[in-house]
Amino acid sequence: MGATMTQAPRKALITGASSGLGAEFALQMASRCDQIIVTGRHQTALDELAEKLRQRGLECSVVVADLATTIGMARLVETIRQQGPLDYLINHGCCSSDGHYLAQHPASQHAMVSLHINATMQLTLAALGGMTARGRGRIINVSSLAAFLPAASLAVYSGTAAFLNNFSEALQREVKSHGVKIQCLCPGYTAKELQNTGYLADVEASRIPDEYGITAPELVQQSLAALHRDDSPVVFIAGEVNRILARKALQKQLDRS
Ligand SMILES: NC(=O)c1ccc[n+]([C@@H]2O[C@H](COP(=O)([O-])OP(=O)(O)OC[C@H]3O[C@@H](n4cnc5c(N)ncnc54)[C@H](OP(=O)(O)O)[C@@H]3O)[C@@H](O)[C@H]2O)c1
Repeated sequence: MGATMTQAPRKALITGASSGLGAEFALQMASRCDQIIVTGRHQTALDELAEKLRQRGLECSVVVADLATTIGMARLVETIRQQGPLDYLINHGCCSSDGHYLAQHPASQHAMVSLHINATMQLTLAALGGMTARGRGRIINVSSLAAFLPAASLAVYSGTAAFLNNFSEALQREVKSHGVKIQCLCPGYTAKELQNTGYLADVEASRIPDEYGITAPELVQQSLAALHRDDSPVVFIAGEVNRILARKALQKQLDRS
């Protein structure tokens, strides 16, 4: 890419970039940025990604940090202070849970809250200073369809996802007039995973056409396209099946209330 003499370099910071959707975001952001900071806990995977980005002409730096720790958070907030202002922040550092709340070690549940909630809040705050001062910036908070599906074994996970949705919606109202756009991306199920949910018990997975199963590159491509559209919603659910699931789950909650 490379910025011109008159244009400030476009910068992005992506957490959870060592794998999955975070790595995919970094690769697809290459055409929109001049400089990308990738972070996570696994140096080797981050170094490999950084090399791929450099081969595409970008400046890329790796910051190894555990976002569930105070020291890891401080390192990243300082990175934003030194290398900002950012044009993009993608909060993707996340983990999932498996098992009933009472059977989990409290420390792992607290680490999930730190990672999903505290890290998102602190990094967003650190990035918003420069974004609001310049009157531009875009933030994606990766949440989950679980925000709408408070199922057993997902108590803390779905709770933190619901926080991310509401935090993003409310914050967007506060920062819209400062030129900042926020998206809360809710990745969901692929068609093959549907048989495990009770929410569409009347729909057999085998009857769901393959095109409803969304891949990571498609998800990221749709997320970035929506982020750059003025009329796109804050809470963004990609894939028709996932939207149906969310709608049904919300309706069930309302019907019970
Ligand atoms: N992929 C899907 O289809 C899907 C569906 C529903 C929901 N989601 C949501 O999207 C999230 C990401 O999905 P994914 O498939 O991309 O998962 P993933 O490949 O496991 O990516 C999670 C990323 O978070 C980072 N991370 C985890 N703990 C961290 C910590 N303590 N500090 C810093 N970074 C940390 C990991 O990097 P390090 O290990 O290097 O730290 C990794 O890069 C899921 O957790 C879920 O919330 C995804």
